[in-house]
Amino acid sequence: MKHATSTIEQTGKIYTHSILKMKKKKPLSLRKVIKELFNITLYNYQQDFLYDCINNQRIVGVFCRQTGKSMTIAMVAVIEAIKNPGSHIVIVAPTDRQAGELFKKIADFVKDSPVSSEVSSVTMRQMVIKNSRISAFPCGDSGDTIRGMTANVLIMEEAAYIKDSIVNQVLMPMVAATQGKVIKISTPFSMNHFYNSFQSDDAYKSHHYTWQHAVDAKHFTMDFIDEQKNQLGEHSIEFRTEYCAEFIPDEDAFFSWELIDKCIGDYEMLGEI
Ligand SMILES: Nc1ncnc2c1ncn2[C@@H]1O[C@H](COP(=O)(O)OP(=O)(O)O)[C@@H](O)[C@H]1O
Ligand SMILES: [Mg+2]
Repeated sequence: MKHATSTIEQTGKIYTHSILKMKKKKPLSLRKVIKELFNITLYNYQQDFLYDCINNQRIVGVFCRQTGKSMTIAMVAVIEAIKNPGSHIVIVAPTDRQAGELFKKIADFVKDSPVSSEVSSVTMRQMVIKNSRISAFPCGDSGDTIRGMTANVLIMEEAAYIKDSIVNQVLMPMVAATQGKVIKISTPFSMNHFYNSFQSDDAYKSHHYTWQHAVDAKHFTMDFIDEQKNQLGEHSIEFRTEYCAEFIPDEDAFFSWELIDKCIGDYEMLGEI
């Protein structure tokens, strides 16, 4: 048990000579470390993204739908917490449901992992592990509920759906005093901060993964992609956004992104009527 965590702490990079059994002499690949910690075999693109998340301060990942964004970022949160004891890992998602789902992924991973013995408390949205705290919050329309927090690692889940004003006024200030890490991950949506970080901000290490990566990894089948091409139209905005992970410029969109952005809100579901 001890070895699983000390490996991560010691190295900074999470390549290591041993995770669970000291008798392993050779360095483990990142994929093996993840397999031993979380019992998941990463696809190549997930491994590349995760490696950069661990070893860089600004990372942006533009991904096709259902390619394991939330899963990968859940692992990053746990590794960051263990690697730097005493730190605060803040995950922000546009809605309460998204924040809750991601936190549940983290809790499930940790429950079945050799690092579970390092957990000292867990609630619905917060875990203390190795003296670090992992918290997941919705930012909603204004970010008012999370204003003033401090983070050593800030993870924006479905970042493209978080408004620029919240990123600028509430989220980025969280890492100002800590020189903290920022990770943005999402399917493309509008030409906002997420697009700018990906496209034009040299401080960010950019990753881009489409349906092709998911098919190569055998995560999607080509039959499924062909079906979606037929249903949505290969050149439709839906297919290009959701599966090709393309940013669609305003002139190709029916409504301008600025208008859509103004209409986004976090509303309670009405339930059965
Ligand atoms: N490397 C992997 N091995 C096995 N299952 C995976 C892998 N990556 C993703 N998945 C599964 O794919 C599904 C979608 O993952 P998720 O993280 O929710 O995707 P996204 O956030 O990109 O929509 C989940 O059921 C997840 O467990
Ligand atoms: Mg997700």
